Parts: sequence; structure tokens; C-alpha cells
Amino acid sequence: MAILVTGGAGYIGSVTVELLVQRGERVIVLDNLGRGHRAALPEGVPFYRGEAGDRDLVARIAREHDLEACIHFAALAYVGESVEQPLRYYVNNSAQAMMLIESLLEAGVRQFVFSSTCAVYGEPETVPIPEDHPRRPANPYGWSKYFVEQVLESCDRAHGLRFVALRYFNAAGATDRCGEDHDPETHLIPNVLAVALGKLPFLPIFGHDYPTHDGTAVRDYIHVSDLADAHLRALVWLRQGGHSLFLNLGNGKGYSVLEVVRTAREVTGREIPTRWEARRPGDPSHLVADARRARRILGWEPRHPELASIIETAWRWRLAHPDGYPKDPAR
Ligand code: UFG
Repeated sequence: MAILVTGGAGYIGSVTVELLVQRGERVIVLDNLGRGHRAALPEGVPFYRGEAGDRDLVARIAREHDLEACIHFAALAYVGESVEQPLRYYVNNSAQAMMLIESLLEAGVRQFVFSSTCAVYGEPETVPIPEDHPRRPANPYGWSKYFVEQVLESCDRAHGLRFVALRYFNAAGATDRCGEDHDPETHLIPNVLAVALGKLPFLPIFGHDYPTHDGTAVRDYIHVSDLADAHLRALVWLRQGGHSLFLNLGNGKGYSVLEVVRTAREVTGREIPTRWEARRPGDPSHLVADARRARRILGWEPRHPELASIIETAWRWRLAHPDGYPKDPAR
């Protein structure tokens, strides 16, 4: 049986596809290549270009392959952009996911792994954040994912859909083959490395007056391979008849923007100039995971818990791919 991976040409999706293929899983990728890269996919993986919410296309994929489960990555994921263009996020992330789920249920597929986010929590009341922390998203991106979590719960009750919603904290790092290449790039670590490479003149630091130890925002950076491993474990959990779950994925340790810059200077040996700028709208101050549930239930154990090792893998990929992936001629 096959696993449908939507957004499999994206950053976290491609690393997960790589792992699934290595483990002998049959993988089908559906991606609109809006922000993904054809070159990020391993050779030989069946690929469909289109929207995750395209009912006819998903029905056709289900007819052409014997689908067992779906891992749904395809989404837009920029907090700032979601504040400026909320409808784009609700349509792309919420409405498309609902149509995908509907098509899968019609095709008899009842196992679903969902890319959720710590942005569902908003500004936290307690840190580290457990899964039962109130969900009060601080931006449309977080809401767009939270809506889908609600839909999944309802479909579990009504239709027996079994899901694992993985609430990622800040994905970072690279494998030898797959790395982070977004256009536009807004994420901290790739931008820090772009400055180190001389592709950007300086790193803007958004906000110096957060209630954190050095005034800059704190995040829990988690290696993309550790995220991929959690997806595989979630799939196995569902395959073995496990019930639906919401799980945080993070290392449980927060680093401020200044600490990330300092570590990147050590890893790269480059100067990395910075410039203070105003806070970015929609950014919470402090997001750190309590990820004990994923460890306990899935037996998940991050293999790159150290920030320096996460940045090192991202730097190695950047040095090998200074211009990112080869551009897809069909784009
Ligand atoms: N930052 C800078 N300068 C930059 C880029 C980022 O100071 O050039 C700061 C941001 O303001 C934020 C921190 O670095 O405080 C991390 O920013 P990222 O853009 O790397 O990540 P976010 O925390 O905003 O967003 C990420 C993912 C989302 C996810 C979210 C949860 O992109 O998908 O984490 O907070 F939902």
C-alpha cells in the first residue's frame, strides 16, 4: 500500500519523503510546486503536480494507487505573510485541507498525519508548552492550522478518521540532500546563513524588548530529520491501530535570536552583522515545547538536540548549494 504525501517537495516534506523511501515505504507525492522544488524529490517517486484540495486529482491518485494513509504537509507557513494576507492562508491551509480530507474519506483512506504548529498556542501562559495548553493563535497562520485540527477531531468522531497532528516548533537544519530553500525566505537560520555567505548584507533582528532574558524572541529549534522521524513513527502508530493524537515536536530548549546569531558565528567562523528592527507582527515572545508525550507514546528521541549541530547541518547544505535547488523549469 502507498502513502500519499502532499507538499512532499517542500522543506520538511522532502526530508520525510527521503526517509520513507529509505525505509522501503511506497510514497506518492502531490505538490503544487508553489514553494517546493521538484529537485528535492528522490528519483522514481511518483509525482502529481496540483492542489491538495483538488478532489478529482486526489480521487484519481486514490484510483491509481492503493492508498493506506496521507501525510499532509502542503501549506503556506509564514506568520508575517498570514497577517497581511489572511484569506490566502485560510483558503490554502484550511479549505484545501478540508477538501483533501473529504476526498480521502470518500476513497476509504482513514489514516492521516497532519503538519500542525506551535502557532496554535499563541502567546503562551506556561513554558514549556504542553499539548493541553489553551489554543489561542496569535496570527492567521496559527488559526488556519487550528481549524484543521478541529476538523480532524470531528471527522474522527463522525467517520473514524485516525490522525496524528504534529505541532512542530521551529524546524531547522538539513540532510546531505535536502535543505531549506524558500522564496521569499523569512526564517531566521537560513537568513543568518545567507548573511554569513555574503548573500545578505546584515541580519535584521525583529524586536529587542521582548520579556526574555536578552530581549529577543526565544524559539525551540528542532532538526528537520527529527521531525521526519516523528512522521514515520506517527504512521506506524496509526498502522498499528493507535488512536488519534496531538503531539508537540521540539527539543524543550529555547534559544533567543541573539543566541542563534552567536552560535552561527561560531559554526561558520563568519562575522554576521546584525541590525535592530521593530517587532514583526504576530510573533510571540517565547515558544518552547513540552514534547514528553511524543517521546513517551512514539518512542521519539531527537538525534540533533544541540543548536550548533542543527546550524552545522544547515550550513553544510548551504555551502554545497549556495543558490539553493536548481530552479524548476516548469515553474
Ligand atoms: N527573526 C529575526 N530576523 C529574521 C528572521 C526571523 O529576528 O530575519 C526572528 C523572528 O522575528 C522570530 C524568530 O526569529 O522571533 C524566529 O523566526 P522564524 O521566521 O524563523 O520562525 P517563526 O517562529 O516566526 O515561525 C516558525 C515557522 C512557522 C511556525 C512558527 C511557530 O515558520 O511555521 O515557527 O512559531 F508556526
